[in-house]
Amino acid sequence: MRATWLTDIHLNFLRPLALQAFYDRVAAERPDVILASGDIGEAPNVIGFVDGLAAAAQAPVYFVLGNHDYYRSSIKTVRDQVRGLRGAAKWLPAQGPVRLTDETVLLGVDGWGDARCGDLASTVKLSDWKLIDDFKKSTEPTARIELLQRLGANEARALRELLGQAPPSPSLLVMTHVPPFPEACVYGGSQSDATWLPWFTCIATGEILLEYARTHPDQRITVICGHSHGLGTFQAAPNLEVRTGGWPAGVEDYGNPLVQSTFAI
Ligand SMILES: [Fe+2]
Ligand SMILES: [Fe+2]
Repeated sequence: MRATWLTDIHLNFLRPLALQAFYDRVAAERPDVILASGDIGEAPNVIGFVDGLAAAAQAPVYFVLGNHDYYRSSIKTVRDQVRGLRGAAKWLPAQGPVRLTDETVLLGVDGWGDARCGDLASTVKLSDWKLIDDFKKSTEPTARIELLQRLGANEARALRELLGQAPPSPSLLVMTHVPPFPEACVYGGSQSDATWLPWFTCIATGEILLEYARTHPDQRITVICGHSHGLGTFQAAPNLEVRTGGWPAGVEDYGNPLVQSTFAI
């Protein structure tokens, strides 16, 4: 089975001709399945984009949502919308574990930068806090940090549940938007600095993954994620590898969506 991985494609930055060219580029990979690890567009257009990818490539699309996919709406509203999708594009957290092949099971959660590492007094400000309804009431830094930590804990709870439902398989593929370890949070060829880490790492999901890897030593676990827009691979445990998708150092990211890779499952 050929799986084509996309992340942080931010298709809302493309004009119609460029969008069609990207759909064609994905279709040319001849995927059996498309995996999209978040930041696909924004709330008003994300469903159109995942449907567009599925139609262009004639393949199912499993996706998680990134922070940008909630812009101009709320977390609950967008999740309610994608949970109801019945076509070829499927929001992975609502699917439960999906058996892709005899060898490999796929599952995933969105994840959230959960303000549990790096410099919590960081002055880096995210557009999330203006453009996602959930943040509009939490304008004080301490309230915002509390909210982020709660969002991260919710993602960890969802991930633990999905892992508990996963049937035995030699290989487990986990898709999430936010890097679950600081070492996987990379940009421009190196780890993001302490001012970015709180908003770009989901410590809570990382804890769940490490615990699962420790108790399933014979399973090979691969995590694919994005969000930090840099390329990297981090071996978090002997049987747990995290691949962060993004762009090589110096390459334009917004408006320049890439196919991360097409790999055999
Ligand atoms: Fe992104
Ligand atoms: Fe993101």
